[in-house]
Amino acid sequence: MSTQHQKVAVITGASQGIGAGLVEAYRKLGYAVVATSRTIAPADDADILTVQGDIADPATAERVIAAGVERFGRVDTLVNNAGVFVAKPFTDYTQDDYATATGVNVTGFFRITQLAVEHMLAQGGGHIVNITTSLVDNADANVPSVLASLTKGGLQSATKSLAIEYATRGIRTNAVAPGTIKTPMHPEETHAALAGLHPVGRMGEQSDIVDAVIYLENAPFVTGEILHVDGGMSAGH
Ligand SMILES: NC(=O)c1ccc[n+]([C@@H]2O[C@H](COP(=O)([O-])OP(=O)(O)OC[C@H]3O[C@@H](n4cnc5c(N)ncnc54)[C@H](OP(=O)(O)O)[C@@H]3O)[C@@H](O)[C@H]2O)c1
Repeated sequence: MSTQHQKVAVITGASQGIGAGLVEAYRKLGYAVVATSRTIAPADDADILTVQGDIADPATAERVIAAGVERFGRVDTLVNNAGVFVAKPFTDYTQDDYATATGVNVTGFFRITQLAVEHMLAQGGGHIVNITTSLVDNADANVPSVLASLTKGGLQSATKSLAIEYATRGIRTNAVAPGTIKTPMHPEETHAALAGLHPVGRMGEQSDIVDAVIYLENAPFVTGEILHVDGGMSAGH
């Protein structure tokens, strides 16, 4: 059972991949977790509340935060992890691709972050982590990624703006910018080619990103940081 002082993390895109790893890691840290995605299943653990919904709809943000606060009483951390990647040459993108990428990656960040910040301000502090992509800072001729850069680049800039706006009020904001990570996003048969995108010659593991988020969670002097966890991609090729 949760107590009034147990910390609470809200994690979006929590049904699989990096998000599912984050749920497990925050529970190991002793946090209660509000886990959301469109298809997420109820959990056996009484300290994990799951809420289904499309994060591109601001009404989902309202439901997730309201349900989390009703159950656990507070919001200490928000990880904006839900995200989509549509790799196409720029002129091949459709209006649907545009709507999906901006809907999940940008609109999916906006309302839930506003609501989380309101609770964090009332409590005297908190932590926001945005999951972006290393491609924002290091475009790659082999991976057409304008929609990822447009949306996740916005998130990276917002990370710094939020960090500065709330620096004196106890709310830290950071980002993790992954290279290519072995999650259900990438079918097995693509792994060999994707490994070659990284100077270290391999893809990242889910735990590489989870560990980076947990580092930031425990780093009170770090805010406004874009932590690249990308096998050297941000250093060069
Ligand atoms: N894997 C990589 O190589 C990589 C690289 C760079 C950045 N990233 C970023 O890391 C984050 C996690 O990636 P991942 O690889 O773990 O992804 P993933 O395996 O594809 O999982 C995506 C998660 O987001 C949820 N989601 C997707 N659309 C949603 C929507 N409209 N509303 C609510 N939830 C939605 C999915 O759950 P439902 O289907 O249940 O909704 C799922 O839980 C993303 O932001 C991604 O852009 C990943």
